[in-house]
Amino acid sequence: MIVLGIETSCDECSAAVVRDGHEILSNIIATQIELHKPYQGVVPELASRLHTEWIAQVVEAAIASAGITKNDLDAVAVTSRPGLLGSLLVGVSFAKFYAKALGIPFIGIDHIRAHLYASQIENPLEYPYLGVLVSGGHTVICKVNSYDDVDVLGTTIDDAIGEAFDKVAKFYDLGYPGGVVIDRLAKNGNPTAFLFPGPSLDKDEHMYDMSYSGLKTAVINQKDKFRTEGAEDTPENIAASFQRQAVGILMKRVKLALKDTGLKRVSAGGGVAANSLLRAELKDLEKSGYTVTFPSLKLCTDNGAMVAGLGYRYLMDGKSDDDFLSASARVTAFKKF
Ligand code: KG4
Ligand code: ZN
Repeated sequence: MIVLGIETSCDECSAAVVRDGHEILSNIIATQIELHKPYQGVVPELASRLHTEWIAQVVEAAIASAGITKNDLDAVAVTSRPGLLGSLLVGVSFAKFYAKALGIPFIGIDHIRAHLYASQIENPLEYPYLGVLVSGGHTVICKVNSYDDVDVLGTTIDDAIGEAFDKVAKFYDLGYPGGVVIDRLAKNGNPTAFLFPGPSLDKDEHMYDMSYSGLKTAVINQKDKFRTEGAEDTPENIAASFQRQAVGILMKRVKLALKDTGLKRVSAGGGVAANSLLRAELKDLEKSGYTVTFPSLKLCTDNGAMVAGLGYRYLMDGKSDDDFLSASARVTAFKKF
């Protein structure tokens, strides 16, 4: 089964062709990053306008570089929630009419589940496993029971982890998008130059919940209070010290959740899963007997291949959507304990 996957939930206009859920024939990602750069953040109105202008060409490019024609497609999968509503609507409308014109089924895909599924395309992992979804919009630790069934154990109670990376980078004018820049700068910095507040656990009922606004505020407004004696106030040191704690907050909950649930497998997804420190710390869990997977870098950030891959699973189970498929900005993927 050859599935076209379309992703337009934020600032990446992407289309991919995936055969049988795992063979990526093409994965075109037209990023709008340069066009949002002057604003140091995604401008929703601009994003949807660019998707409208680009989507047809991106889909054509995905089909051409897969070496097929549109008549070879068996189905279309499209991100339909959550995300920027105007951007989602472009993808959903396009996918619906494209599929109808070809007389093939289409299915709306949840972006969060797609990020959690991304690593399954390249490195299938047996269910259940501990899912770590870390992106610009979400920070979730969950028990992934199947491609469609996710129990949330903990989430951020304020900023998403990627949002914290982006806001710190924006404040210090380090560059955009913030996560990639901080990751790069941190490699040449001292992670203990600033001892920012770290991964203390709340003693309330939601042990796996996290907060990133305290860390972000400390880095932005009270930096000097946390500087260790003699440490230099450089972008590299700020980046390394912030990143150490941002990853530390997450990893502490991940380790606790693994211990409490008894799960032996872990998989990460989302843009921040591209972070080199987080990847190294997750990989380190293998020394304690856990199996760890994450997507290759291209499948961490938003892409059509994860949408096509997950779409394939639903379609194989006989599911598809009807003409009433719409876009939704809201998160619906999870039930929370
Ligand atoms: O998954 P994604 O492309 O979009 C959302 O669904 O949010 O994630 C984008 C986020 C941004 O906040 C970006 O700064 C962050 O992922 N990111 C990173 C890295 N690469 C992307 N954060 C930390 N380290 C990275 N290497
Ligand atoms: Zn995403």
